[in-house]
This record gives sequence, structure tokens and C-alpha cells, in this order.
Amino acid sequence: MVKSLSRIYPLLTEEQIQRRVKELGAQITADYAGKEIVVIGLLNGVFPFFADLARAIHLDLDVNFMRVASYGGGLESTGEVKIIFDIDQSIRGRHTLVVEDIVDTGLTLHKVRNLLLDRDPASLKIVTLLDKPGRRRVQVPVDYVGFAIEDHFVVGYGLDLEGRFRNLPYVGIYNPA
Ligand code: IMP
Ligand code: MG
Repeated sequence: MVKSLSRIYPLLTEEQIQRRVKELGAQITADYAGKEIVVIGLLNGVFPFFADLARAIHLDLDVNFMRVASYGGGLESTGEVKIIFDIDQSIRGRHTLVVEDIVDTGLTLHKVRNLLLDRDPASLKIVTLLDKPGRRRVQVPVDYVGFAIEDHFVVGYGLDLEGRFRNLPYVGIYNPA
């Protein structure tokens, strides 16, 4: 497949994303006022969102990462979720916030959520930049959503197609046709 920037149609501008991330940060800051949180990013796709969101949350927080793979690298989920590496701290008794780039079938977060709940956090919430509610195969509670979008394959701001386009500052729809 030829992967070209000319196949990408802008969906969310850099300005729209930055404005919404600040709103999410302000909401999270207010909701957890007076508490400390552990913020867990799901790599690789989350890296720009995580960095921007963490700086918009004005609380004491611990940063940690997990790497989870669900896609074989193409446009469709394999349905299989693998933990490539885990966080390296205990979340027992801690308020825990999972940060994801996009929720599609829900399989990834379903697995991650159950894994983390088994470790007895004080609370567990999920924030995602993007949500494709129409694609859900398993229900998973998502507490904060940046943007709900239609069923399109999107790239940019962390999201990739076979490893490409993660560094675009905006989100666009990839049209393979
Ligand atoms: P889920 O397990 O199907 O909910 O998929 C979650 C993961 O699939 C996300 O963390 C992304 O890595 C990937 N993914 C889902 N939809 C897209 C998309 O439109 N573009 C790029 N990656 C996607
Ligand atoms: Mg991902």
C-alpha cells in the first residue's frame, strides 16, 4: 500500500486538539482536587496526547506507561491484545487514570482495565482523546472523551498507519482508496 500525505483529509486541527486537551486537563484537575493520581499512558500512540494532557493537569501526579499491542499494524484489529510491557509501580490504593489515544473495539481497554482493577487501585478512570463508539465489540466505561468521531481510520497526533504519521500535529482521515 502506498502511504502518502495526500491521502490524509484533515479532521481535527492542531488548534482544536490543543483547546480540547486543555479543557480535559481542567476537568480532571477539578474532579481530582486534593488527590494524588497515577497517570498511565498506553504506548505508543498516546505519546503526544499524554505529554500535552499531563501538562494541563495541575495536580501531584506519577507518570507511568504500559505498552499494549492489538493491531497487527494495519487498518483492522486482530482482536488479540498483548501486554508488551507493564507499569513498574504499584497502584494499590492509588487513584489511577489510564490515558489512551483512541477507543475502537474496546478490546484493549477492556483487557487493561481488568488487569489494573485486579491490583486494587483506590479508583480507576479512563481518558481517551478519540472515541469511535460505533465500532465497539465490548463495552468499557470511558470517563473522559476528547472527541467522538465517526468510523474512519485516522492518523496523526500519535496515531499511526503501519508506524507512519504519528508525528503529525493534527488528526486526519486516511483514505486508502
Ligand atoms: P481497540 O482495542 O479496538 O479499542 O483499539 C485500540 C487501539 O487500536 C488504539 O490504541 C490504536 O492503537 C488502534 N486504533 C484504533 N483505531 C485506530 C485508528 O483509526 N487509527 C489508528 N489506530 C487505531
Ligand atoms: Mg494505541
